[in-house]
Amino acid sequence: MTDKNTRNEKMEAIVSLAKRRGFIYPGSDVYGGLSGTWDYGPLGVTLKRNIMQLWWKMFVQDREDMYGIDAAILMNQKVWKASGHVDTFTDPLVEDLETHMRYRADHLVKDAGFAADGLTMGELNELIIEKEIKSPDGNDLSDVRTFNMMFKTNVGPVDDELSVSYLRPETAQGIFTNYKNVLDSFYPDLPFGLAQQGKAFRNEISPRDFIFRSREFEQMEIEYFIDPATWEVEFEKWIALVHDWTDALGLPAESIHELEVEEADRAHYSKRTVDFEFDFPIGREELLGLAYRTDFDLGNISREAGKNMEYTVKGTNTKFVPHVIEPSFGVERALMAVLSAAYTEDEVNGEKRTYLKLPTHLAPVQYAVSPLLKNKPELVAKAREVYTILKKKYGNVMWDDNGNIGKRYRRQDEIGTPYCVVVDFETLEDNAVTIRERDTTDQKRVAISELG
Ligand code: GAP
Repeated sequence: MTDKNTRNEKMEAIVSLAKRRGFIYPGSDVYGGLSGTWDYGPLGVTLKRNIMQLWWKMFVQDREDMYGIDAAILMNQKVWKASGHVDTFTDPLVEDLETHMRYRADHLVKDAGFAADGLTMGELNELIIEKEIKSPDGNDLSDVRTFNMMFKTNVGPVDDELSVSYLRPETAQGIFTNYKNVLDSFYPDLPFGLAQQGKAFRNEISPRDFIFRSREFEQMEIEYFIDPATWEVEFEKWIALVHDWTDALGLPAESIHELEVEEADRAHYSKRTVDFEFDFPIGREELLGLAYRTDFDLGNISREAGKNMEYTVKGTNTKFVPHVIEPSFGVERALMAVLSAAYTEDEVNGEKRTYLKLPTHLAPVQYAVSPLLKNKPELVAKAREVYTILKKKYGNVMWDDNGNIGKRYRRQDEIGTPYCVVVDFETLEDNAVTIRERDTTDQKRVAISELG
């Protein structure tokens, strides 16, 4: 493991590359920014979509037991009362008594070198007093209090208690509220899952570490409905499936760690949680979570909405409210892990090179096509032909004729393009091109008819 400074240097290098090369920009940058928000540039949005499409294919399209949905972000306020989010979706907040800046108490405790996981508000308070923990500006802190992380808004023209709604803090509730709809339309066999991808919003007290902790982010969630008697077996199956997912992202197995979350640290709805952590440059942190949510949510809906959430086992009179295993994946954290694992520095012909060793199926540009010289019309015309063939076939193909060939290779390496295709004078004779491979920098001749 590298030391903290090196890790931060690597993080800074990734953040800088992401901005410079059109992956990720700070949100509202031209107006001085908006903390905790990020915008995706042309390469970032493609990388993000490649990750989301891979997930959708793996967990929805390739399976018989999975149903996709896309629910509204705004939901009836009763959803968030019943789910417990109005009362308990909080973080511990402290205020700098001089500057009035607000911080997450557990973050300050951790930054001061003490363990904070699982501590109650009272315990955090005591620790801050006992260890004389100060704000980052060195000032005294207020008492710890709770802060609800949901963004509150009003739906419709009247600003009163009845019109209150929230930007969803998790996509899961849109799944639970549609469980009965899908059951009635498709009557699936148990176990079955509902999957959704979409935005979630949390008014994080201190968003930090690039896109790792932001206020607007995307989740990919599955609620997998099961017979409660089978929960342990199903949970183990999901642990294995999560590892298949991190493999598909190209993350090294040794950088993924399972953390069995203790009861005091689990969300209010969970009877078992395993966090999957990744060795990010900022340290080992949560990549995604797997929780056994029991019948907590369907039970709440039955009670609060008065609707029957029971499942009837086909051909029998056996009825029960299914239990739920929930794998919850954060898109941004997956993307940050992919970028961190891919970021590589080496030396080529005595010169330092930076490149992204992205898996080919995730790379935002799969092929870059160039004419060897851009002032030779016959080379340009042939290269355009090759470009059109590859573009039709793969979509994520870039035309690149800027600078000399060496500079093009460096530029494409930096954005993780696995293959550069170059059309030269020989191509006009033999209808073959040079393909240069990113990781090895090896070059070989390939007939145009065999490309891809
Ligand atoms: N439905 C369960 C749920 O939302 P969670 O552990 O609060 O569980 C799931 O969130 C995942 O969402 C996390 O593992 C992480 O990948 C992502 N996530 C949560 N908060 C985030 C934030 N502020 N910024 C980016 N990603 C976040």
